[in-house]
Amino acid sequence: MSKLIDAIRDRRSDRHFANKPLEADVVEALLDAFRWAPSSNNRQPWRVLIASSTQAQGIFDDALSAGNKQWALVAPLKMVIIGVPEEQPEKNGLQNFMLDMGFAMENMMVQGYAMGLTMHAMAGFDYDKICKGFALPASAKPVALMAAGYRGRVEDLIEEVRAKDVKVRTRKAIAEFTYRDAYGAAFK
Ligand SMILES: Cc1cc2nc3c(=O)[nH]c(=O)nc-3n(C[C@H](O)[C@H](O)[C@H](O)COP(=O)(O)O)c2cc1C
Repeated sequence: MSKLIDAIRDRRSDRHFANKPLEADVVEALLDAFRWAPSSNNRQPWRVLIASSTQAQGIFDDALSAGNKQWALVAPLKMVIIGVPEEQPEKNGLQNFMLDMGFAMENMMVQGYAMGLTMHAMAGFDYDKICKGFALPASAKPVALMAAGYRGRVEDLIEEVRAKDVKVRTRKAIAEFTYRDAYGAAFK
């Protein structure tokens, strides 16, 4: 069995999908990983809206940013990730529900990667189109869209999108964001 850190490190936000629907048990596995995320006081202030019908997919597609329309339209699984802030009160002036949402989304993305899927979160969408199109109640805030599907071939992407997909993934070095004893003090 590969180590958990391998899946965490190798997961990547690719933009290519195989032309193959996801089986119900695969979708269920994604949702299962999502729901086992930690949340403050275990409040689980989340909802997931899966766009399946032609009409729902049309709303989803129409709300995508121009850049995301270049690759996400063909994703076999389209999900609206929704938070309900009133179920997770603010703390220190911070929107705590967003933390819970992030944990759940990462769980889902790592699980999907480990199952051979492309999983791609998107903040690039028209918020009002999602709210109005899906008639969300005022309490429900769409925090991200998620495109998912079996991995396709990077060679099949249009040049502009392919360039983004083959870009080397980087992260800050640990020493760049870790301090010891005082803010800004070197960790080593
Ligand atoms: C909340 C969130 C929103 C994102 N929105 C978009 C998006 O709208 N379009 C896009 O192409 N990528 C989007 N991404 C993907 C990020 O660009 C990507 O995670 C980042 O570049 C790191 O690459 P990696 O996921 O392959 O490690 C988003 C990621 C997150 C977590």
